[in-house]
Amino acid sequence: ARTPVTVTVTGAAGQIGYALLFRIASGHLLGNDVPVRLRLLEITPALKAAEGTAMELDDCAFPLLAGIDITDDARAAFDGVNVALLVGARPRTAGMERGDLLSANGGIFKPQGEAINAGAADDVRVLVVGNPANTNALIAASHAPDVPSSRFTAMTRLDHNRAKTQLAKKAGVTVNDITNLTIWGNHSATQYPDIFNAKVNGRNAAEVVNDQAWLEGDFIPTVAKRGAAIIEARGASSAASAANAAIDHVYSWVNGTPEGDWVSAAIASDGSYGVPEGIISSFPVTSNGGEWEVVQGLEISDFSRSRIDASVAELVEERDAVRALGLI
Ligand code: NAI
Repeated sequence: ARTPVTVTVTGAAGQIGYALLFRIASGHLLGNDVPVRLRLLEITPALKAAEGTAMELDDCAFPLLAGIDITDDARAAFDGVNVALLVGARPRTAGMERGDLLSANGGIFKPQGEAINAGAADDVRVLVVGNPANTNALIAASHAPDVPSSRFTAMTRLDHNRAKTQLAKKAGVTVNDITNLTIWGNHSATQYPDIFNAKVNGRNAAEVVNDQAWLEGDFIPTVAKRGAAIIEARGASSAASAANAAIDHVYSWVNGTPEGDWVSAAIASDGSYGVPEGIISSFPVTSNGGEWEVVQGLEISDFSRSRIDASVAELVEERDAVRALGLI
């Protein structure tokens, strides 16, 4: 039998955690032949709720679930971790300034980065879901100097999946017919979903759609504001779709992306496409089953350039703000 892979989920008692843990335990994160050991990290007052979720995981009798540990201690949670899903974060509340939000999250992601640095397995892969995800990933990475920065990523796969469905609907096809879509930049309202390099059944998506008014007035804002639209409709934020995207991100990273296609993930920039080095920004990426690689050589129109630059500028501002606060 294979040795179980240790998967740590922070914010495990939250709503994404509730949608995520059962899919990890049933084999969707890594593959249906890979046993997993779950580590649930929560703040002390939420430990009891995490225990309740663990009881339900037990009650599923998942053949691949090798064990569950629950803790409020980051060091214990990340000791020997192979896959770390950092979901728990401090949400923005009414009247909160950006500096307060970044400080509160620095208080979470700095010690978690340190704990990953101290105890993670050599092959550790980290996905930050908790917002502001890109900058939280930057904070964690900067406190884990012994872990390659390429192992710290932030999630834009939900934006990618949202864009895929919106484009498929517009083109009158299914998501199976859409490839090579890209989310660039920050997981925020400035993100840029790029259809100029995307394909609909192998044909250039922007040419198939041929509707700049739809692109600017409908598609881009619909994708960017989808989170708010879900809250408005459901009375709660997107959780199952966010959990699904986290599963997709890690599955693609570990098991590879299909030949000829790519996905979107926020990774530390190597300077590609003029994104300042070190910024954790979303790119078109492939994986051969291990490491992300930025797809090179894509044509970037003036329209795309200005959208990418605006989102990257926001990330640079966030980086400068956390630097000024002493968080990185
Ligand atoms: P939630 O509020 O239901 O759950 C968050 C959980 O994190 C809570 O149980 C809380 O106790 C826990 N937590 C807080 N601080 C912690 C710490 N220091 N260590 C461990 N656990 C801690 O929130 P939900 O809906 O599960 O969302 C989680 C995060 O994911 C939010 O920041 C949300 O904005 C973000 N998100 C990101 C998306 C993306 O596409 N990147 C999409 C949807 C949500």
